[in-house]
Amino acid sequence: MTTDTALSDLDFNPGELAVGPDVADLLFREAHTVSTFTDDAVSDEQIQAAYDLLRWGPTAMNTLPLRLLLVRTPEARASLAEHMSEGNRARVLAAPLTIVAAADTNFHEHLGVLVPHLPNARDMFAGDAAGREAMARSSALIQVGYLIVALRATGLHAGPMGGMDAAGIDADLLADSGWKSLLVINVGLPAGPESVRPRAPRLEFSQVARTL
Ligand SMILES: Cc1cc2nc3c(=O)[nH]c(=O)nc-3n(C[C@H](O)[C@H](O)[C@H](O)COP(=O)(O)O)c2cc1C
Repeated sequence: MTTDTALSDLDFNPGELAVGPDVADLLFREAHTVSTFTDDAVSDEQIQAAYDLLRWGPTAMNTLPLRLLLVRTPEARASLAEHMSEGNRARVLAAPLTIVAAADTNFHEHLGVLVPHLPNARDMFAGDAAGREAMARSSALIQVGYLIVALRATGLHAGPMGGMDAAGIDADLLADSGWKSLLVINVGLPAGPESVRPRAPRLEFSQVARTL
C-alpha cells in the first residue's frame, strides 16, 4: 500500500479539516470577542460543561493549574471592577458572569492523583515556590486558551480582558488562596451586532511559520 492510498483510506486530505465547517466557524472563524451581553443568566452548570471539555487539554506534567473564580454577587463584582482598567470596568459590572482565570501556585498538592506515574512529583515541587509559580502561570495560561474555545463549544461567548491590576485582584479576591489572577473573562450571549468589533486582520501562515 502506498502512502497516498493510506491517506485516501483515512478520508483525509492535507489542508482540509477533520471537523465540519460549522464547528470551525463556531470555535474560530465566526467567533468574536464580545464586549456587551444580554441579561440571560449563565449557570454554574454551563461553566462546568466548558471545564469538562477544557480539562482534557494538555498541561505540563498534567499539572492542571488553572483555577476559576466565578464572580456573581454585586459586592464581588464591584470589588473586581475596582481593579479593572477604566475601559473594562463597566463591562465587568454589566456582564451576566465574569470569571477570574487564575493559576494555582499550590497545584503540587494534587500531583499524587494527577501524576500517578511519578510518585514523588508533589515533593519535587514542595520546596520550590518560584518554580511552581512559573510553571503554574504558563500551563494555566495555556488552559485559558482552551477555556475560551470550550466556552464557545457550549454556545457561550467570551470577552477576555487583561487590562487590570492583577496584584490588586489577588489581594482583594484571592487572598490566602495561592491563586494568581491571569485574565478576567466576561461570559454570556452577545447583546447584538454592536457587541463585537469588526474583525481585524490576522497574520498569514507564511508570516508566522518557518520550516527548518
Ligand atoms: C489576553 C487578552 C487580553 C485582552 N485584554 C483586553 C482588554 O483589556 N480590554 C478589551 O477591551 N479587550 C481585551 N482583549 C480582547 C482582544 O482585543 C480581542 O480578543 C482581539 O482584538 C480579537 O477580537 P475578535 O475576537 O473580535 O476578532 C483581550 C484579549 C486577550 C486574549
